[in-house]
Amino acid sequence: MAYLDIKSLSVSARSANEIVKIVDGVSFTIDRGEIFGIVGESGSGKTMTCSAMLSLLPNMMSVSADKMTVADTDLLTSSPSLVRGKLISMIFQDPAAALNPVFSIRSQINAVLKRHTTLTSANRKQRLHQLLSDVGLPDTQRVARSYPHELSGGMQQRVLIAMALSTGAQLLIADEPTTALDVTVQAQILELLKSLRERLGLTIIFISHDLAVVSQVCDRVAVMRHGEIVEQGDIFTVLGNPQHAYTRALLASRLGRESARGSLSTVAVSLLEGAKADD
Ligand SMILES: Nc1ncnc2c1ncn2[C@@H]1O[C@H](COP(=O)(O)OP(=O)(O)O)[C@@H](O)[C@H]1O
Ligand SMILES: [Mg+2]
Repeated sequence: MAYLDIKSLSVSARSANEIVKIVDGVSFTIDRGEIFGIVGESGSGKTMTCSAMLSLLPNMMSVSADKMTVADTDLLTSSPSLVRGKLISMIFQDPAAALNPVFSIRSQINAVLKRHTTLTSANRKQRLHQLLSDVGLPDTQRVARSYPHELSGGMQQRVLIAMALSTGAQLLIADEPTTALDVTVQAQILELLKSLRERLGLTIIFISHDLAVVSQVCDRVAVMRHGEIVEQGDIFTVLGNPQHAYTRALLASRLGRESARGSLSTVAVSLLEGAKADD
């Protein structure tokens, strides 16, 4: 049985006199321990697809689906308080905006641990340092004492990943987690996500507008356009032999002028090989 199973998920937005389908009949499954990519240009519905799973949609939007389950939990009928954090955690593009500037890292993670666990104060302290070290932050004492502005963007994103893990959630949704970071730091965060999957058995949904980034981290990918999945499958198949014109266009735009040399699929395969060589 699939760990995550979504069938015909739609999100509709009501405006003054019309109803617009923002997400239109999206279906996919994810196995436990997989990293599943959702890729598409800005506005294609990637964030709303995942926000629907967490009941985090704006008021004027409504959800319908034939099925939406994680493990044995039905996301359509469960109370959001049993899903958010407990089952699914989400991290976003801009780590600085997601952290509260007036509280130290220690007090922000401690607040999450208090809400989501039954740990004693002493055990919370221990867990805090374990979490910060799990996400590859050196000198956890210093980081715990710090305020968000004292940390780099990459360190802030690591702190948010630690916070997302602190609830015990087994499914992590990473929504463009590296878009605001420079290329070197981006590569380090991608490595961290892969290692967390290995070490903690996490299942990850990785959202990006960039196929090359997705190719570095995902096992399978769904390509979204105008609220629909136009193509999905194994990352090597989708990039090496894209079936849909939109996937080819995404690849071509990523590759720029290089796509003019030789056939696109050859270029796509070399893109994948290049991405592997960076590992
Ligand atoms: N808060 C909102 N209110 C109204 N419409 C929205 C809102 N957020 C997003 N949308 C609409 O939903 C569509 C999909 O948005 P989103 O899922 O955020 O796209 P993506 O994450 O792929 O960039 C957008 O084209 C936009 O028109
Ligand atoms: Mg988005």
